[in-house]
Amino acid sequence: MFILTTKVTRFIKYVASNTAKARHLSVLGIETSCDDTGIALLNQNGEVLGNVLNSQQKFHTRYGGIIPPRAQDLHRAKIAEVFERCMQEAQLTPNMLDAIGVTTRPGLPLSLLVGARFAKHIARKYNKPLVPVHHMEAHALQARMEQNIPFPFLCLLISGGHSQLVFVRSATQFLLLGETLDDAPGEAFDKIARRLRLFLIPKYRYWNGGQAVEDAAKDAKNPARFEFPLPLARERNCNFSFAGIKNNSFRNIRAAERQEGTPPDGIIYHYHDFCAGLLAAVSRHLMNRTQRALEFTLPWFGDSPRSLVVSGGVANNDYIFNDLAHLAAHYDCRAYRPSKKYCSDNGVMIAWNAIEQIKENANCMRWDYDAVGVQGKATLGVNMLDAVTQAGIKCKWVQASKWRGVPATLKVAL
Ligand code: KG4
Ligand code: ZN
Repeated sequence: MFILTTKVTRFIKYVASNTAKARHLSVLGIETSCDDTGIALLNQNGEVLGNVLNSQQKFHTRYGGIIPPRAQDLHRAKIAEVFERCMQEAQLTPNMLDAIGVTTRPGLPLSLLVGARFAKHIARKYNKPLVPVHHMEAHALQARMEQNIPFPFLCLLISGGHSQLVFVRSATQFLLLGETLDDAPGEAFDKIARRLRLFLIPKYRYWNGGQAVEDAAKDAKNPARFEFPLPLARERNCNFSFAGIKNNSFRNIRAAERQEGTPPDGIIYHYHDFCAGLLAAVSRHLMNRTQRALEFTLPWFGDSPRSLVVSGGVANNDYIFNDLAHLAAHYDCRAYRPSKKYCSDNGVMIAWNAIEQIKENANCMRWDYDAVGVQGKATLGVNMLDAVTQAGIKCKWVQASKWRGVPATLKVAL
């Protein structure tokens, strides 16, 4: 109790002295969990004062994937410069910071270490508290920075490393309802796009797989040309699986290449149709699992407005988001996602998460820097997977949306 009180007192005194210099609480966010070096500076209202992102994507696409030691080298080479640029953009000096949020879990351990060490260095030098941040919790709360989304809400986290359904009760209370048994959807898009060799098309040279698939699907003539499985159709839970879709894609591509005599530096003729079918299959799977999670959690909303938040890199996908919004509307639930620049990894979401944590409980701030470590793997929230399976909810599937903007040919397949 004594320790808690001194911690809070220390923080109150500390903020009081700092707010004289900066008008609002200023929180730095440092993200290095994968291949983006992102640093941002926010005030407590969520105004972005500085935001700098250095993506390593161009480097990694040359090698067909992320090589962890190279990612670490690139973070190391860039992090000080990214920090300098962020502070310049915000026109603040480091001693005006009130706290430093940093991603400590989950992610590539070598990459996480660079951010954590840099955060500790700044914290020591300027006597600032650290706020350790869970990368997926940061994705989950990001939409609240720009939109008024009250707790609780259901959240679908879809990225290159994760696929999770969580019920979010507060900034620090998460209930895990479902997760992927194998690949993540972004990972499947990246691997399939690479196998299709979409990177040979100049426009897609440096795009990520999901973005390229979404764009290529827009010119589909017959999205039903290729068949895709519906994963876990018999499992009455909220888990995901994308390995079946991925392996089936590889088989279909190989068969089409043989049939068409595609050269090693060529692309199958009907790749637009392939991408549209793939997108529809991934979206259908995400919809079905989210529908069950909605039915499971409806009683938990009580009289509060029902909200579904979609976040993570794959939330950039308009096709998928619009399908999910259509599903949510069926349950009198509103769908949200962060603005596109904040769906993928960035420093803003880390700073915002630190602010949310501080607002909920100032004890999240750590002065024991040496005890703040990184974790490559980290669970998210309280595990409710068994409860969901036991409920065994049978759903009458909501049909996919006919939202505006879908090419007429794609609607045929829906
Ligand atoms: O959240 P994020 O930036 O990094 C991780 O934490 O994984 O997500 C990156 C993933 C990549 O796999 C990428 O293919 C996917 O997000 N992605 C998309 C789109 N934009 C990015 N997937 C589908 N459609 C998109 N428009
Ligand atoms: Zn992410």
